[in-house]
Amino acid sequence: MKQRERLGSRLGFILLSAGCAIGLGNVYRFPILAGGYGGAVFVLIYIAFLILLGLPCMTAELAVGRASQRSIATSFDELERPGQKWHWMKYLGIAGNYLLMMFYTCISGWMIIYCIKYLNGSILSAHGDAALGTVFGDMVGNVWLTLGATLAAIVICFLICSLGLQKGVERITKWMMVALFVLMVGLVVYSLTLDNAAEGLKFYLVPSFERMNEAGLGTVISAAMGQAFFTLSIGIGSIAIFGSYINKERRLLGEAVTIVSLDTSVALMSGLIIFPACFTYNNGVSADAGSVGAGFLFTTLSSIFNSMPGGRIVGALFFLFMIFAAFSTLIAVFENIISFWLELTPLSRRTVSFINIALIAVLSLPCVFSLNIWSDVTVFGKSFMDLEDFIVSNLLLPIGALAYVLFCTTRYGWGWKSFEEEVNCGQKGIRFPRWIRPYMTFALPLIILAVLIMSVI
Ligand code: ALA
Repeated sequence: MKQRERLGSRLGFILLSAGCAIGLGNVYRFPILAGGYGGAVFVLIYIAFLILLGLPCMTAELAVGRASQRSIATSFDELERPGQKWHWMKYLGIAGNYLLMMFYTCISGWMIIYCIKYLNGSILSAHGDAALGTVFGDMVGNVWLTLGATLAAIVICFLICSLGLQKGVERITKWMMVALFVLMVGLVVYSLTLDNAAEGLKFYLVPSFERMNEAGLGTVISAAMGQAFFTLSIGIGSIAIFGSYINKERRLLGEAVTIVSLDTSVALMSGLIIFPACFTYNNGVSADAGSVGAGFLFTTLSSIFNSMPGGRIVGALFFLFMIFAAFSTLIAVFENIISFWLELTPLSRRTVSFINIALIAVLSLPCVFSLNIWSDVTVFGKSFMDLEDFIVSNLLLPIGALAYVLFCTTRYGWGWKSFEEEVNCGQKGIRFPRWIRPYMTFALPLIILAVLIMSVI
């Protein structure tokens, strides 16, 4: 059997896994949900779900990846006992990764277009939500422009992956993540010095039971759980793949804690950028937490950049930061897709990359078209973009996470003993506590099932 490729360093592993988690979900979805659903109340509920749900699920994924040394395409085949059917999970995993990319590439393309609009200054004359709504509408309505930008995102990220695990994926993501953190800290400092920063922070970080009650506790809890799943991208093997590239030096719970902490710090810092700006230049936040969409970035936030001094630079840097966040997720998921192909076919990394450029370009078409030439086509009352997002976020991620947890905890799967041995293998890092077993075996599957039912309803 061919020797599994390895990442060059622990830092590479942490930044790649965090890069997979850190994405569009952190930067605009989290702050708006937090603002609209009760500020610190939502933040605390969300953090509770990250700990209760995110950490054990992520540890389970990392353990399956590291023990099998495989992607989700063959990891269950490797660890299950003869006659078991856990390997069917590969279909869910592969479908989940492709479906996520079918709309994520399109939105990443929009980030490229907006970054260019700020760099060349062509957007600066538009002021107010209405004018910027028209700019956004014109962009998504332009088939060739959005198609070109989507293709650019796909080609750039696959070319990086085609350079190899260490030379492409690890090296470039490491630099991108460092740049993302530097940009973010710079934007936070800038935002905190704005005139009405204090009001923005109050809206964001002071608990507001009034706003929580307005939305309803059930809605707030379900939004927090959904966001915890989406932000960590758990359940479809895109975290497990990085577990398959590391050695057994460290225990896995500690690694999961570091990844989740990085992801959460980016989400929290995004709010520190967005709300002071909203309260200084927009009289607050007009976005509705219940229906928050990427449109918020392109209308409200752009309107703010266009009214502030130096807004051209701030806007360009903000969208550059968004590109890094989006690309770190694209590269991680593409690496997972490449790994499926390398395990299931005799093809080389380069050939697989080129095949997938074509494949994902074609698969992205329904999403690109859903905002222009197919704008009146709906399936179950949803546009292609919304449908793809719904299937991944509300169905595949929770079902996949449930399968990972059951596989690791029950004797009908890999079983607790093997799982515990794998998680605690290594000399460094936090030990997986024994008392967690009943929680993970009985309560966690029920919580995930509840998430699944609530999100479908
Ligand atoms: N985890 C990715 C994000 O937050 C999908 O955008």
